[in-house]
Order: sequence, then structure tokens, then C-alpha cells
Amino acid sequence: MTQPIKLSVLRQHPYFRDLAAEALDQLCRYAKHTVLKRGATLFAKDDPGNSLYVVISGTVKISISSSEGRNAILNLIGPGELFGEMAVLDAQPRSADATANTNCEIFVIDRRDFLPFVRSQPTLAMKFIELLCARVRRTSDQVEQLILQDLPGRLASALLGLSEARKLDAEGGTIAITQQEIGDMVGMTRESINKQLRAWVLRKWVRLEHGAIVVLDAPALRELASAGTRGDD
Ligand code: CMP
Repeated sequence: MTQPIKLSVLRQHPYFRDLAAEALDQLCRYAKHTVLKRGATLFAKDDPGNSLYVVISGTVKISISSSEGRNAILNLIGPGELFGEMAVLDAQPRSADATANTNCEIFVIDRRDFLPFVRSQPTLAMKFIELLCARVRRTSDQVEQLILQDLPGRLASALLGLSEARKLDAEGGTIAITQQEIGDMVGMTRESINKQLRAWVLRKWVRLEHGAIVVLDAPALRELASAGTRGDD
């Protein structure tokens, strides 16, 4: 990727677009453009945090797994989103695994370049504080859902969250995710996800495509997510 293309990608990015021209040039020199194949591991939980990542295209999966091989997906990070900021900022090990969920294009920014840069840019530092607040809020919501919501409510919340995170029109939003993956996000088996989704297909709340779920009736899912206690019929 040439320097001018890199610059135009960073200039449009919500985190970096307010930087002065000189700072943006500096960041552009730090950002290494990298292409990843689906399934490639970026890092594993407990690795040292040497870099920050910006997704340009594709999706990166943030997950954790138990020693018995159970897997939980914490988030799917899409275009324009950042990840890997926690270990970079607090110098602790990585809090989760990161894997390319599709073929991806990313920018990799070395911690040794990023830390002095963010120290010199208070507006950017504030944006990272907002990002960390958003992570804590999301985690609190997930804990609330696990404790208080029934399975259909959790699935409805997850679908709405994924379509909103990608700024799609929720009424027509296609979410590229398999039924196994959404099960790993909400703590349900693939079989119960499939049963629930097929019931919602009959109600025309969702449509199933190969490797994707299309939200057709976001208000109905929203109502279910806020009630959260309906049966799974
Ligand atoms: P880091 O700990 O460096 O590496 C794993 C990254 O996953 C972490 O930074 C965040 O960017 C991201 N991450 C960790 N926990 C969550 C979570 N609960 N939800 C979304 N993203 C997370």
C-alpha cells in the first residue's frame, strides 16, 4: 500500500482524522500494512503486547479458550475498529487470543512508536480512554445478559449488537457469522442456536444465508432482548 493510500485511510478513521497533518504523517510512517489469511493467529492470550492493530477490511475474532477446548468469542472486530490496545497501554500480557476470521487487511503499529506518540497527542489519548470505557460497558452488558437474560434474549441482544457495531441498517443488516460462532459468543450450543433461528425465520425476524444471518425485524428482536424472559417457541 503506498503512503498516499495509507494516509487517506488514516485520515478517514474516526480515531485519527482530527490529528494535525504532521502527526498524521508520523502515524502513517509507523503503520505497517499487513495482509492476513483467514485463520491466521495474530497473537494468543498471555503473549507480550508489542503492537496495536487497526482493521482495514475483514474481521478479527477476539476469543478465549479453556484447557478442555471450550471456546468463547468476546467480540468480532470489523473495519475501522482497533484492538490490542490493552496490553500496549498497560504493559500487561494479552487478555485474549486474536485470529483472522476472514481474509483481512490491517495496520500494525509498534508499541515503541505508539506510546510516545499517544503521550504527545492528548485528544487521541482521550479517544483511547473512551475506547476502554466502551470495552468495560460492553463487558458489563455481557455479564448482565449472562445472569439476567434467557437464551433467546441473549441471542437477540448479540445479533443487534453485531449489526449496530457495523453501523448497518439494522432492518436490513447482514451479519457474516456462522451459527457455531454466534453460539460461542452467547454461550449456547450450535444446535440450540439453529433451533432458535429457525423459529425466528418462520416469524420473518431473520433470514439465514450461507455463513451469515440477516436481521429483518430489529424492533421485534429489540423487544425480545429487553423483555428477555420469553419462551423459545
Ligand atoms: P489486548 O489485551 O492487548 O489483546 C486482546 C485484545 O482484545 C484487547 O487488547 C482488546 O483490544 C480486545 N478485547 C479484550 N477483551 C475484550 C472484550 N471483552 N470485548 C472486546 N474486545 C476485547
